[in-house]
Amino acid sequence: MPTLHRYEDAPALREHIDAALAQYLDEVNLPRSLRDAAAYAVLAPGKRMRPILTIMATELLGGSIDDALPSACALEMVHAFSLVHDDLPALDNDELRRGRPTVHVQHGEAMAILVGDLLNTLPFRLLSDRTPDAARVGALCVELSEATCDMIAGQVYDTLGGFPQSLTDEERLRLTHRLKTGALIRCACRMGARAAGASADDLESITAYGEAVGLVFQIVDDVLDVTQTTEAMGKRTQKDEQADKLTYPGVLGLEASRREIRRLTQLAEDALTPYGDRADPLRELCASMAVRTH
Ligand code: IPE
Ligand code: IPE
Ligand code: MG
Ligand code: MG
Ligand code: MG
Repeated sequence: MPTLHRYEDAPALREHIDAALAQYLDEVNLPRSLRDAAAYAVLAPGKRMRPILTIMATELLGGSIDDALPSACALEMVHAFSLVHDDLPALDNDELRRGRPTVHVQHGEAMAILVGDLLNTLPFRLLSDRTPDAARVGALCVELSEATCDMIAGQVYDTLGGFPQSLTDEERLRLTHRLKTGALIRCACRMGARAAGASADDLESITAYGEAVGLVFQIVDDVLDVTQTTEAMGKRTQKDEQADKLTYPGVLGLEASRREIRRLTQLAEDALTPYGDRADPLRELCASMAVRTH
C-alpha cells in the first residue's frame, strides 16, 4: 500500500511540489525572461493548499504521490495564473503578493499578462507529459479546463458584475465564491481522486468535501481581509470594502460568516465519514484552513 502522508507532513509535501514545479519549468523551452517571471510567480512562498489537497485525496483512495504529482503541479500553475491576473491593475490592482512585489510590479505588466497566458496552458501539457496512467489524461484535462473556465467566470462576476437580474446579494456572493475560488479547490480534490482511479461513489464523496472546503476557504479569505494586517497576510488587506467587493463579512457580517465557516467545515467532515481514520489528513487540513491566520 502506498504511503499515506499525515497533515504534519505538509511542509515536506510543499518542498516536493516545489521541486517538481521548478524541474518542469526548467525543462520547457522558454525565453529566459518568461521562465524567470513564471518561476517568480509559481515558486513564491504560498501555502500550496491545492496541490496538497490533490496528493491527500489520491493517497486516501490508495494512489501514490507519484500518481498525484502531475495533477497537483498542474493545479498550482493554474492557481498561480489566477493570482498573477487577479493582481493586475485592471483587476484588483495589488502590489504585494506572498510577501513580495506582484509579478506586474516586478516584471512589468506585459510580462505579467504573458506569464498568466503561459500558466494557463502549460498545465495541460504537463498532464499529458507526466500522468503515469495515460488513459487518465483526457479526464484530468477536462476537469482542469472546466474548473479554470469556472474560475474565470467567477473573476468576471467579481470584477465586472453582470449577474442574472433575479439574484439577491447573498446569491450573487455564493455564486461568485463557488466559481472564483471553489471551483479550483473542488477540482484539486477531484483530480486527486481521478489520479487514484476513484469509483463513482468515492468521486462523489471527495467532491462534496472539496465543495465545502472551497467555500470555507474564500469566506476565511474575506474574513482575513477585514481582520488581519498586510504584514501577516503578505498581501494588502482592508481592501475588499473599499473596492466594493461582495464579501461574506460585507453581506452577512463577521459573526454570521464565522457560523457559515463552522457549518461548511462540518459538511466537509461529514463527507469523509466513510473513510474513518484514513481521512484524518484531509480532516485536519480542512480544520486548519478554517482557523488559518494567513
Ligand atoms: C489566494 O489563495 C486567492 C484566493 C483564492 C483566496 P491562497 O490563499 O491559496 O494563496 P497562496 O497560494 O497561499 O499564496
Ligand atoms: C481570489 O479572490 C480569486 C482568484 C484569484 C481567482 P481575491 O481577489 O479575494 O484573492 P486575494 O485576496 O487577492 O488573494
Ligand atoms: Mg480578486
Ligand atoms: Mg485579489
Ligand atoms: Mg481576498
